Amino acid sequence: MGKFLPDNVVTNDDLAKLMDTSDAWIQERTGIKERRHIVKGSEDTPATMGYKAGMQAIERAGLTPADIDLILFATLSPDYYFPGSGVLVQKMMGIPACPAMDIRMQCSGFVYAISTADQFIKTGMYKNVLVIGSENHSGGLDFTTRGRGVSVIFGDGAGAAVLTREEDTSRGIMSTHLYSEGAHAEELSLIGPSTLRWVPEIMEANDPEDISYYPYMNGQTVFKHAVVRFSEVINEGLEKNNWTPKDIDMLVPHQANLRISQFIQKKFQLADDQVYNNIMRYGNTTAASIPIALTEAWEEGKINPGDKVVLAAFGSGFTWGSAMMVW
Ligand code: UT7
Repeated sequence: MGKFLPDNVVTNDDLAKLMDTSDAWIQERTGIKERRHIVKGSEDTPATMGYKAGMQAIERAGLTPADIDLILFATLSPDYYFPGSGVLVQKMMGIPACPAMDIRMQCSGFVYAISTADQFIKTGMYKNVLVIGSENHSGGLDFTTRGRGVSVIFGDGAGAAVLTREEDTSRGIMSTHLYSEGAHAEELSLIGPSTLRWVPEIMEANDPEDISYYPYMNGQTVFKHAVVRFSEVINEGLEKNNWTPKDIDMLVPHQANLRISQFIQKKFQLADDQVYNNIMRYGNTTAASIPIALTEAWEEGKINPGDKVVLAAFGSGFTWGSAMMVW
């Protein structure tokens, strides 16, 4: 496991200087106290942050970049429209030729990516897969009162994991469960610039009311679906493995909103030491949130060999998923 967070800490009070919001509102509704933002003009991008997190994971796995057979890069904020950020990481790591694939599943990106890695490993096609989740949100948010419902939530950062073939089938990824429901595609989205809203068109229209280049979120609808889908997909994983909530040593939920995590904790009657949250410090880092939280939980000695670890995510698409693992 590895992670990288930009040094620049942005508190709720810092945001209250830019827009009509308050530390009390943000903490009460989301649990967030501060987040990290890339400083404009710094070298950090989703690819460079993913590279740093990825190198840490590779070194901790006792490997070198030459051992990596496949790179999976989960992000909603790639460096370029194309090519994907996965190939940029491959270039930085000096890996001459291997597949490098971007996964565009937003907050569920890391769960989708490790499920993909798991399939390639179990079929025997690849041995060592580097999975990265990395995001630069701060560069594209509306830090005025108009955008406060979205911009106070999201933060920047990267997390990574190396998945390796293991002959002992009593440990590793036991099952993954993935879903999408495109009927809600626009409820959490960034529509333009895109092939529907080409940059030249937006510039030509020069319409100050056109803010389609900022993310849109129907917060309440997303919240309502999130709590239902989180519960369903965790339950599905528990049933598949004949586990009960008591068996869970650590649940690492996507860090969307502390209130969602608390709802899930209560619903499954989990103790505080069965759930890991760090949204207070980093905000919602989308595809990076689970690998950052998983890395921290492991670094803090809260995940140990043999532990039953559950990952669960929900986000734009809508997409959702869970992964059941024995560490
Ligand atoms: O990670 C991907 C998945 N995303 C999620 O899971 C997010 C799910 N949704 C949420 O976490 C919550 O819906 C939010 C935290 C985004 C918003 O909380 P809410 O309790 O649903 O607030 P709201 O959108 O219903 O807004 C309530 C009020 C509104 O004012 P009025 O109309 O009641 O006068 C908003 O304008 O709060 C206002 N508001 C704010 N006030 C101060 C919205 N954002 C802010 C803000 N500061 N930052």
